[in-house]
Amino acid sequence: MLTLGIETSCDETAAAVVEDGCKLRSNIISSQVAVHQSFGGVVPEIASRRHLEAILPVLQQALEDAGTGLKDIDLIAVTRGPGLIGALLVGVAAGKALAWSGGKPLVAVNHLQGHIYGNFLQGQEVPFPFLCLVVSGGHTDLIRVEDHGRWQTLGRTRDDAAGEAFDKVARHIGLGYPGGPAIDGLAGSGNKAAFAFPRAYLEEGSLDFSFSGLKTAVAKAFDGLAAHQDQSASSTSPGSGGEESHVPHQALADLAASFQSAVVDVLVDKTLAAVRQTGVSRVVLAGGVAANSLLREAMKAAADADGLELHMPQLAFCTDNAAMIASAGYYQFKQEGPSPLDFRAEAALRL
Ligand code: KG4
Ligand code: ZN
Repeated sequence: MLTLGIETSCDETAAAVVEDGCKLRSNIISSQVAVHQSFGGVVPEIASRRHLEAILPVLQQALEDAGTGLKDIDLIAVTRGPGLIGALLVGVAAGKALAWSGGKPLVAVNHLQGHIYGNFLQGQEVPFPFLCLVVSGGHTDLIRVEDHGRWQTLGRTRDDAAGEAFDKVARHIGLGYPGGPAIDGLAGSGNKAAFAFPRAYLEEGSLDFSFSGLKTAVAKAFDGLAAHQDQSASSTSPGSGGEESHVPHQALADLAASFQSAVVDVLVDKTLAAVRQTGVSRVVLAGGVAANSLLREAMKAAADADGLELHMPQLAFCTDNAAMIASAGYYQFKQEGPSPLDFRAEAALRL
């Protein structure tokens, strides 16, 4: 069974063809990152316009790469939410139009559920039950997944999402957008023990997260370094400085590494606590932050030490893509059948 997936929730216009829920036939992503970079983040109005321009060529390329045509597609799966409403509407309208004109069933997919199915694209299903750590730009959730469509949220962030913390810290220290990959790259040459940043574990036994205190601590440390730098610059060359602070590269790398390590420590520790609390020893990572090199390394080491079965999506299926939507849509269709054609996009859709 061939599923055509469509994803336009943020700044990637994506389409993919997946066979039987877990075999990848094609995966096309048209990224708008370069367009939004100069604004320091995604501009919703620009994102919608770009999706409109890109959606048809992206769909065409996905079908072509899969060596198929619309007539051979059995199911269309589209992201319904959460995301930017104007961006979601483009994918939803495209999905509905293709389904209606081609007489194909359509399924409306939750983007977060899609992220989980990024783990199903290695050609094999992940057995149930499992614990999933969903870490993206908008979410940090620990969920217990019993079966397709059956899960329970064990913990979530009380303030910033992990990816949001990466993005905000990156912006503050001048690394630009998107912040996660920039910090990950810079941290590689930094010392993660250089700064002792706080790790918020919250109440005993809590599986919730909080990253806003950490974000503030990193911002303060950076401001301190910048002020110190400005001071020494003005004492050596009077009258200079002011507009921009030039924190030395090594100090910036140390800051990035120390911040990243604080985020990863909490993510790994809370996941291990969830394993102990539930007795479920199969762990799955999902979402853009699952691409983080330290998180992958630390989770692997923890899983090896504790004898856990760990699944991580390939890097291409951590960040937004349509293959994960096609996969999630396939299993949803098998369980629940098609969605009514009059469903609406929902910016704040929850799991
Ligand atoms: O899942 P995703 O592509 O979009 C959402 O659904 O939010 O996640 C995007 C988030 C951004 O915050 C981005 O900075 C973060 O994932 N991210 C990373 C890395 N790659 C992407 N964070 C840390 N390290 C990375 N290598
Ligand atoms: Zn996402």
